[in-house]
Amino acid sequence: MSGLARVPGDKSISHRSIMMGSLADGVTDIEGFLEGEDALATMNAFRAMGVYIEGPDQGRVRVHGVGLHGLKAPTAPLDCGNSGTSMRLIAGLMSGQRFDVTLIGDESLSKRPMKRVIDPLTLMGVRVEAGEGSRPPLHIHGKGAVKAIDYSLPMASAQVKSCVLLAGLYADGVTTVTEPAVTRDHTERMLRGFGVDVKTEGSTVRLQGGQTLKACKIDVPSDVSSAAFFMVAASICENADITLKHVGLNPTRAGVIDILLAMGANIELSNHATIGGEPVADVRVRSAKLKGIRIPEHLVPIAIDEFPVLFVAAANAVGETVLTGAEELRVKESDRIAVMANGLQACGVNAQPTEDGMIIQGLGYKSGLRYQGTVIESQGDHRIAMSFAVAAIRAEGTMRIRGAQTVDTSFPGFVTLASQLGLNISAVKGRA
Ligand code: S3P
Repeated sequence: MSGLARVPGDKSISHRSIMMGSLADGVTDIEGFLEGEDALATMNAFRAMGVYIEGPDQGRVRVHGVGLHGLKAPTAPLDCGNSGTSMRLIAGLMSGQRFDVTLIGDESLSKRPMKRVIDPLTLMGVRVEAGEGSRPPLHIHGKGAVKAIDYSLPMASAQVKSCVLLAGLYADGVTTVTEPAVTRDHTERMLRGFGVDVKTEGSTVRLQGGQTLKACKIDVPSDVSSAAFFMVAASICENADITLKHVGLNPTRAGVIDILLAMGANIELSNHATIGGEPVADVRVRSAKLKGIRIPEHLVPIAIDEFPVLFVAAANAVGETVLTGAEELRVKESDRIAVMANGLQACGVNAQPTEDGMIIQGLGYKSGLRYQGTVIESQGDHRIAMSFAVAAIRAEGTMRIRGAQTVDTSFPGFVTLASQLGLNISAVKGRA
């Protein structure tokens, strides 16, 4: 593997750019927007509420903001597709509208827990109805205003934090959210970029309701979660030397780099810059002899989306890797502990799932030592599909990944970029 690549824009930031651009006064220009299905679901939701949005055209989007109170009632349910971020953040915003909304999702999203947002929204005085077991669809009865609350998150979730803060824009008073561990802070950073006064003190964030958002320019960095696939790929591939350009390295997202460095990865950062309040850098990764580690729990929430591919790194390391404190992985687009353990076991790797993590005995680097290529069911989960594409680098024979069209939710163009960097990978239409 060798070469330079720029992976697509950050998914979390792309979602938020549409939401805040829509609620702002004025025109917001976005560059580097992720044209993946998840972020497009958010874009379509705001179009359905009367926001005029131009693009996307090669990552450029222009949002004609309607102001905090300018959204219109949609004529049909808002379809969040596969995207938990769309559903949970939009649920917060809908709480402050003067109309009712129904939020629906695909099969995977319809199984994901929504109690975590229903609870705080109920405390804010909003009536939210959900399907069985507090799963989607969500019916939100907007009242035009919400009660400010002081909320301690029961789990480390940036989606829940963001849901409460966005609802808090419609509160008459100060909304306070305290998190049990550091989670991604893109909402807070972007609100500040739109001129909103948001205060962060330790693990507590405060926001006075009723503040208006002023349109601004947004430059979306490359998604570190997408870059992570190639970081692991280059680490486990022989004679690799790749550079990933302009990767978003917000410290609340960059846990994957700390974990890989602790495993002995050869990673160098250069060209550090800050764009639109978000730190970025180029990331050079060369082959390395990885070693198994016990992953520090404080890094779990700040690397939460990268564990599927980190499990692949662990399978190729020398010795044992132990992950604990990551029970949230069980409620992502799939149960990522079970699905990754099953897939790795099918390849012949000793991967033992636990309630809140995994124990993996790495195969190490003895020459010729490889696991078996096999057929993997991605279970509708984009990151599972891409992780096994990376695992194929050290597999004997071919790895066939079913349901891989899901990669478009977060990483359109993955196969092309992976081939350009030297992976032997192709997309097969129909059943692989
Ligand atoms: C996200 C937060 C994380 C992450 C998801 C995107 C966000 O979810 O897994 O892919 O944009 O806020 P949780 O907040 O549920 O941990």
